[in-house]
Amino acid sequence: LQFTFGEFKTRVFISSEIKRLEEIAADLNLSMASSLSPLVICDENTSYIADKICGSYKAPRCTLKSGEELKNWETVQSILQAAFDAGLGRDGIFIAVGGGVIGDLSGFAASIYMRGCRFVLVSTTLLGMVDASVGGKTGFDIFNRKNLAGTFYPAKSVYMPLESLATLPEKEIKSGMAELIKTAVLKGAKGDAFLDYVEAISCEGYPDIGKVLNDKEQTLLKCIEKAVKYKGSIVSKDLYEKGQRALLNLGHTFAHALEASAGLGQLSHGEAVAWGIIRACELGIALGITPRKRAKKIKNIVTSLGYEIGCPHPLVKDSELIFSAMNSDKKKKQGKLSFIVPDKESAVIVVAHDAKFMDTVNKVIKGELSF
Ligand SMILES: NC(=O)c1ccc[n+]([C@@H]2O[C@H](COP(=O)([O-])OP(=O)(O)OC[C@H]3O[C@@H](n4cnc5c(N)ncnc54)[C@H](O)[C@@H]3O)[C@@H](O)[C@H]2O)c1
Repeated sequence: LQFTFGEFKTRVFISSEIKRLEEIAADLNLSMASSLSPLVICDENTSYIADKICGSYKAPRCTLKSGEELKNWETVQSILQAAFDAGLGRDGIFIAVGGGVIGDLSGFAASIYMRGCRFVLVSTTLLGMVDASVGGKTGFDIFNRKNLAGTFYPAKSVYMPLESLATLPEKEIKSGMAELIKTAVLKGAKGDAFLDYVEAISCEGYPDIGKVLNDKEQTLLKCIEKAVKYKGSIVSKDLYEKGQRALLNLGHTFAHALEASAGLGQLSHGEAVAWGIIRACELGIALGITPRKRAKKIKNIVTSLGYEIGCPHPLVKDSELIFSAMNSDKKKKQGKLSFIVPDKESAVIVVAHDAKFMDTVNKVIKGELSF
């Protein structure tokens, strides 16, 4: 797949197996021996994938610890330091091997190293494949706010080797499934066929990736491809999120508020997104935008995958906490929050224009509008 995002071009390769460095170089039209000057960035859980990629080639490596807590300026600095120590020039290539955290950090570092050097991403989590790795958002957390600092810097090539998912913990598979459900709701269209595909890989309510890779690899591949195509088509029209791209935040206004009030790292992003999608359905039903039947279909899939969708959420019983976290959302525009709610065939952006609207949001958070 190939996309143009503003001045950037991104190629996406979805495959069963992990590609080798030679192939990555060839995809960039480089003859490995003479022109490849890479820095491979991975974490402790993805270093085995970096080993497979590099084979016998001794590429300079920056191995980080794993986890969202790592998404800070100090880590960015350590990536820059590794690039400097390896003698990378502006023709150097940052090759990130990991999930959204490694991707966001390395993309950011690549975007500022020597005012921008080439960036390649090998996405190793389901969330990375279906969402984080395509679209160019990079960043890290500061002042206890997720992704408050960052740039738009799409990778030149993105690799999605399904093989790498075999070692991904179940919690992380679940996290990615939530973003897949989100994209399937947005893609929508008649009959919600994409949602049916997602249901088909959920293996009787249990995201057993080993089983999926064995029995339903093609369906998984189709799902990832559909998600990438959808996200790519939206971002091609709106890299800098001036309009339509905001649709990709379905469930996120609620999710970010839940994550912030539960404390960063208490629940996975996907768990928060799944919870948020259901809140968005409740808001949409109250506004007369979301058809109840479609909301029920979405809720069935989310529930069958075992997500906590109760409201109040067991981790944050005080709805006031969520409400005030929501009010400091960084995506507020002119002091107003916006919400994405499912409609008949996809979703729409609605702006919280008055106190009555926020009253409805408050009722949703209190669990008074469950369906
Ligand atoms: N840039 C974007 O557009 C975008 C979109 C959505 C989310 N994000 C960001 O993505 C991050 C979440 O990404 P994530 O869910 O991929 O988390 P992550 O990168 O922290 O990975 C989750 C865990 O899985 C481990 N892991 C990764 N690949 C593995 C593999 N193949 N086998 C075994 N373990 C593996 C990691 O070491 C980590 O412990 C958040 O910081 C979020 O802000 C960015």
